[in-house]
Amino acid sequence: MIVAETIVDCRAAVAAAKADGKRVGFVPTMGALHDGHFSHIDRARRAEAFVAVSIFVNPTQFGAGEDLDAYPRPREADLDACRQRGVDLVFAPSVEQMYPDGPTGGRTSVHVAELPDTLCGRSRPEHFAGVCTVVAKLLNIVQPDVAYFGQKDYQQAAIVRRMVRDLDVPVEIVVGPTVREADGLAMSSRNAYLTDDERAQAVALSQALQLAADMIHNTHPPAGRVIEAMRAHLAGAAPLGEVDYIQIVDPDTLADVPATDRPVVAALAVRFPHARLIDNRVID
Ligand code: PAF
Repeated sequence: MIVAETIVDCRAAVAAAKADGKRVGFVPTMGALHDGHFSHIDRARRAEAFVAVSIFVNPTQFGAGEDLDAYPRPREADLDACRQRGVDLVFAPSVEQMYPDGPTGGRTSVHVAELPDTLCGRSRPEHFAGVCTVVAKLLNIVQPDVAYFGQKDYQQAAIVRRMVRDLDVPVEIVVGPTVREADGLAMSSRNAYLTDDERAQAVALSQALQLAADMIHNTHPPAGRVIEAMRAHLAGAAPLGEVDYIQIVDPDTLADVPATDRPVVAALAVRFPHARLIDNRVID
């Protein structure tokens, strides 16, 4: 496995693979790899001859007061895990390599209109410009044929798809299903921050989404009623959590929908004392 820390080395490794006629699958990550990431890596491994993973905790997608410094960086464990899964290339650049003028020093950032103005974007206003800018840079550096994202970050995947489409980036975006713990909690690197009590209550997020799916499948109630029921469930089952948002949105536009007699996405974010968790469910 090649570990490239510079853009030049990363490009050289990918160019050599392409010269051998290999298609390149790419899994962008911020490290602290878990089964959610491994499901993308394994999928890429099955589908493509060359698999690249990036490990980069991107400072520009963290807001002031967020967990940039605390974000876990288990570099050696991540590299071992990639090796074990047959990854060909890990691109693990420094902040200086990605942002030579400093994270806020560059003059260009990629901003997709409208889609970031809802859901997580309401409480994290700069987040998606940071994500789009770094994903655009990573796609330009790695130049993969296919890039893999997770459905747990539904809004991120929708925004990245739109960016790729609008900027004619020649890459296929594949969105893989959310991988869950046995009790239903969506896997996330931030779950490690939770205390035992918070962890026990965190299962309420997936339970609230199950409740929404059951209500919608049974009677298609107005979205407002579903949201109220989800809120009541969280108040009872996760008293340590403060709801950031609960929304029922259109799967493509991410606009709030009043009715549930068509496919919708139920999405929520809950702030526990030690971690803000998100989850969502597409309900047909
Ligand atoms: O989903 C993530 O881990 C990050 O947002 C990404 C796509 C690697 C960009 O930093």
